Amino acid sequence: MNSSSPKSRDGFTSSLGVIAATLGSAIGLGNIWKFPSLTGLNGGAAFLILYVVCTLLVGLPVMIAELAIGRRAKANAITSFQKLAPKQAWWLIGAAGVLSAFLIMAFYSEVAGWVFAYIFKAATGALATTDPKALGQAFGDLIADPVQSLIWQWLVLILVSGILIAGVSKGIESLEKKLMPALFALLLVVIVRSLTLPGAGQGLEFLFKPDFSKVTGATILAAMGLSFFKLSVGMGTMITYGSYFRDDQNIPSTAIRVMLGDVLVSILAGIAIFPAVFSFGFKPDAGPALLFITIPAVFNSIPLGGLFVVVFFVLGAIAATGAMLSIVEVPVAFLNEQLGWSRKKATIATSIALAVVGSTAALSNSALANTKFFDKTFFDLYDFASSNVLLPVGGLAICLFVGWRWGGQEFARELTNRESLGNIRVARLFFGLLKFVTPILVFVVLLNGLGIIKL
Ligand code: PHE
Repeated sequence: MNSSSPKSRDGFTSSLGVIAATLGSAIGLGNIWKFPSLTGLNGGAAFLILYVVCTLLVGLPVMIAELAIGRRAKANAITSFQKLAPKQAWWLIGAAGVLSAFLIMAFYSEVAGWVFAYIFKAATGALATTDPKALGQAFGDLIADPVQSLIWQWLVLILVSGILIAGVSKGIESLEKKLMPALFALLLVVIVRSLTLPGAGQGLEFLFKPDFSKVTGATILAAMGLSFFKLSVGMGTMITYGSYFRDDQNIPSTAIRVMLGDVLVSILAGIAIFPAVFSFGFKPDAGPALLFITIPAVFNSIPLGGLFVVVFFVLGAIAATGAMLSIVEVPVAFLNEQLGWSRKKATIATSIALAVVGSTAALSNSALANTKFFDKTFFDLYDFASSNVLLPVGGLAICLFVGWRWGGQEFARELTNRESLGNIRVARLFFGLLKFVTPILVFVVLLNGLGIIKL
């Protein structure tokens, strides 16, 4: 197969652009919303340790596998499998990925909508109180208002579509190159403020001193699910982005850097949030509301706090946007390449479909609050099913594909840039993980976490 990309195919143009866009996909609401809320609910440091272990043994190898598949095939998530394994059913992995993209975007675009709404609320002084009850009320009012929920979600979808229509290099890459440094700078500002609060040490202790007594099978599955969600793997996002990588890009070293950057941002978000939470006597286990109630409450109790609230939510909006670009790119790339639709048509069609599916999540706290499956609203169901079922199953299938179908030789060829990099050992290490270790781990954690087997 000819691996040099045809001139007509858009892609990332520089090595820095590759890192910015891939990091932009990884860093998102997962770092500032999901990670702190799960860590707070699951006892702090013990969860953090499990999450890091899962990232190293599961998330990272699958990420490398996906990038290699995508760059070799130079195609979207479904077509990539059809190219590498013609006439076999492996493309279903990509098809499942498109489904996951819809389910994730359904709730993700809603939370992103709340984040954007909070920038305006904070800037106009609507959140200028330290009373958790009043803030809880404000958040409750927002999510229980069907009109506001839908409008913020649509605005988010329109923003993401606009960037995607501009293209891979002119839209995603050029924007992320500007946004990523801004995100790190804003995060540092918030951290310095949080760490200089009286009593910050207690929060740090919570984040770094492990207590394994609360760990159950469900906790381990949640940590593994987070490691998939965080690195955007298990649903073809990294296959799609890998297909935009340049041929001279070092895949393992890029993946490792993105993984380190992503874990760092999660830990920094934890350092920004938990000391402040403890310093003001809040509870760390507020769950998904942590971000929207606790953050304004803690920052509003300090001088210039209102400004930090705005900064924090701008940071969240930046992070969420980069991640959403990569989720929506999965179906867009498919429709564009496989059905021959223009990018514009593919993006608009996808966004309309997303608005329809997403409305069930947006209305989960109002009109559809009582519509439940397995005791979960649509919002919670999409969140749980994607991170804790679909991404792990997708990741498992990708391990099996690389380990047992594509094979070590082809995989190593892609990781070493056709033996030109001298990193064959690294390639062998990750192949061994993907063939034996990662799939068994995912399988066991998944069945145990869902209560199908009991360890
Ligand atoms: N990694 C993103 C985050 O942490 C979420 C995401 C999941 C993006 C799956 C792409 C694919 O917010």
